[in-house]
Parts: sequence; C-alpha cells; structure tokens
Amino acid sequence: MDKELATKRVLTGTRPSGQPHLGNAFGAYLPAIELQSQVGELFFFLADYHSLNSVFDPEEMRSQSYDIIATMLALGLDPNKGCFYLQSAVPQLCELQWILSCVSPFGMLTRAHTFKDAEAKGVEINCGVFNYPLLMAADILLFGASLVPVGKDQKQHLEMCRDFALRFHHRYQKEIFTLPEALIQEHVAIVPGLDGEKMSKSKGNVIPVFAEDKLWKKAIARIVTDSKGVDEKKDPENCIVFRLYRLIEQSQSKVEALKAKYLDGGYGYGHAKQDLLASMTQRFGPQRDRYFKLRSREKDLYEIIMDGSAKARTIAAQNIQSIRSLLGVL
Ligand code: ADP
Ligand code: TRP
Repeated sequence: MDKELATKRVLTGTRPSGQPHLGNAFGAYLPAIELQSQVGELFFFLADYHSLNSVFDPEEMRSQSYDIIATMLALGLDPNKGCFYLQSAVPQLCELQWILSCVSPFGMLTRAHTFKDAEAKGVEINCGVFNYPLLMAADILLFGASLVPVGKDQKQHLEMCRDFALRFHHRYQKEIFTLPEALIQEHVAIVPGLDGEKMSKSKGNVIPVFAEDKLWKKAIARIVTDSKGVDEKKDPENCIVFRLYRLIEQSQSKVEALKAKYLDGGYGYGHAKQDLLASMTQRFGPQRDRYFKLRSREKDLYEIIMDGSAKARTIAAQNIQSIRSLLGVL
C-alpha cells in the first residue's frame, strides 16, 4: 500500500448521464474502486445537480442515478469504506457554491473550457453551465479533499478550485480550505468506441458495462474493422476489437495468443469478435448478475445512498459552520 495515499482524503464524483459504458468503467469507476483499497478515506458521489445541465427529464434523472449506484456497487465499491453519497442530498454544497461565487471573478469563469465550448456552439447557455466550476469546487472544498482523481478534461476545474480557495483565504485571512491536487491517471487510456473515436454517450458508439448478452453482442458486431479476409495477416494495434480485448481480458497469455492469431492470419474479425464477447462475459458476467439483482431493488439502493448522504451531511454541516463563522453573518 502506498503510505502517502493511505493518509489522504480522496474524493471524486461522476454525473448520472446515460447508461454507463466501458469508457466510464475503465476511465473513472474502476480506478476509483481500485483506489478505495489504498486510501485512507474515499468520498465518492453522484454529481446529480451537475447533470441538471444536460438531463432534463426527471424520470431519466431518477433512473440514471439508480443505474450508477447499482453499477458502482456491482463493480465493487464498498459503501462502508469512506462515503458514497448523492450531491443533491447535501444542501451545504449549494451554500458553499454561493459563498465561493462571491470571491470569484466573473472573468475567470468565462475562461472555463466547458463554458467556452458551449459558447462556441452558439447555443443558449444557462447559468448552471457558467457556475459549473463553482459547484465542483464546493464539492471538493467542503469535504477537505486533498486528492481528486479525474480525467484530463477536468484538470482546469481543479486549478480553478484551488484558485477560488486561495481567493477566499486572502479575503478572510484564514487558510480554512485544503488545497486539492488532481490525480490525473495518465496510464488510464482513452477507451475507443465502436468507430474508433473516444467511446462516448454523445457519439452513440458505446458498449454498455452491463447489458444482456444480446445487447453486448449487437454492440460488438457493430465494431468497425478493415476489410481484410480471414486468411490475411492483420495488425492488432490498428484493430478496435483487439484493443478492447486487451483492455478487458485479464489473462496476459490470452492477449498474447490473440495477438499471434492476428499476425499469423487464418483468423477473421468475426472470430475476434466472438473472443471479445467471451472475454467480456468472463470479466463482467458475475458482476452483471449482481448488477441486475441490485438494479431491481431501488428501495435498497435508495437506502444505501441516503445512509451515505447522511454521513456526508454530518461532515458538511460541521465544515460549513466553520466557514460561515468567518463571514460575519449572524
Ligand atoms: P461521456 O463522454 O460518455 O458523456 P462522461 O463525460 O460522463 O462520459 O465521463 C464520465 C467519466 O468517464 C469521466 O471521468 C471520463 O474521463 C470517463 N470517460 C468517459 N469516456 C471515456 C473513454 N472513452 N475513455 C476513458 N475514460 C472515459
Ligand atoms: N465534473 C466531473 C465530470 O464531469 C464530475 C464532478 C463533479 C467531479 N464534481 C466533482 C469530479 C468533484 C471530481 C470532484 O466528470
């Protein structure tokens, strides 16, 4: 165990938005779960208020929240180790967001990538998109997290979070916040989608982490390959099927064996897709059974996330009190 990690409060969150796919699992969920065994405390939450910017259907919000809770539990997150909670169930986060907004310059928020991207698209931008980095900073600062595992795309949000905290320290002359560091997991590769682009809900090129065999099979059948015939030698590194197989398959010798089949020829993409499905079933099959059982018990899932949220609220209530005491409010 990494001694330094064991002393850190690690916090990360994920937005409920769409069915969890292999990109989410390998890029975010599994690394967080792996960290849980190494860190002092893992705070993991559903950033459902952040999703209000993109999920407008209440039934979708509800159901996707349960999908992620069940997915995290099925993949191995232990709600008794650390804290597993719902952002919307901790109202102090919105309070801190407001407090932070009063020390944060407008100009800084206009330089956020997410805001600039929305602006470039020319669509109407709501204040939620503009304030996104402030709520994210509140998520992190309220719990005194020192380490925040995130994808590369979130790096700027972490820098802004530190900046908001420093401005607050400067204005109120007290270093009340822990300055968080981003833990960018460089070794976590970008998972390719069915078309070879980054796997992403918005591109419709995903393989769901948990789905019936029929759906896995259908998704895998859609993976784009070149038109080489069965007998021809093939390049594994340039094949999406192989790259996904290498990610999923835990036996190194099986990966080597598949590579050799590509290089030798006499092995078609249809065969490779069958091998990928078999590997997927072996790796995620047992967890998928757990997932479907858990997913059918929304009441239990609700209790688990609300228990965690009560724990989070106790910490949040204490910490917001210390922050409020600096402001001069009565
Ligand atoms: P999507 O692009 O499908 O909307 P999100 O933006 O909600 O996914 O991503 C949630 C988390 O999953 C983020 O931490 C992101 O870094 C990770 N993630 C999403 N897609 C991939 C991918 N293709 N490869 C690696 N990580 C990914
Ligand atoms: N913005 C993150 C994402 O889109 C989700 C998130 C919200 C988050 N608040 C956070 C991640 C706090 C880490 C810490 O992936």
